[in-house]
Amino acid sequence: MPKLIVVTRDGTEQSIEGEPGLSVMEVIRDAGIDELLALCGGCCSCATCHVRIDPAFAALLPAMSEDENDLLDSSDARDATSRLSCQVPFTAALDGLRVTIAPED
Ligand code: FES
Repeated sequence: MPKLIVVTRDGTEQSIEGEPGLSVMEVIRDAGIDELLALCGGCCSCATCHVRIDPAFAALLPAMSEDENDLLDSSDARDATSRLSCQVPFTAALDGLRVTIAPED
């Protein structure tokens, strides 16, 4: 299975396996990393699944919807690499993707 590298807020890096078809949020949650709250369960309404994505993979990601963009705007921790992980499908092409859990707002 393709791998996802997750950096938690204390800087710890973990490599986990993810099933293609799940969202990046679901892969992180299913690995038991509870720092990513994902309170709305993936319906793009909470922004607690905010991650920063390795820019090397930016071109492989789906475009951001207006809803995702608006929600990210509510975060002080937003930067150019920010995405809501529930809105990014994990695929085999993303093998080795590195995401960092964004600071809490
Ligand atoms: S889980 Fe709520 S916006 Fe992603």
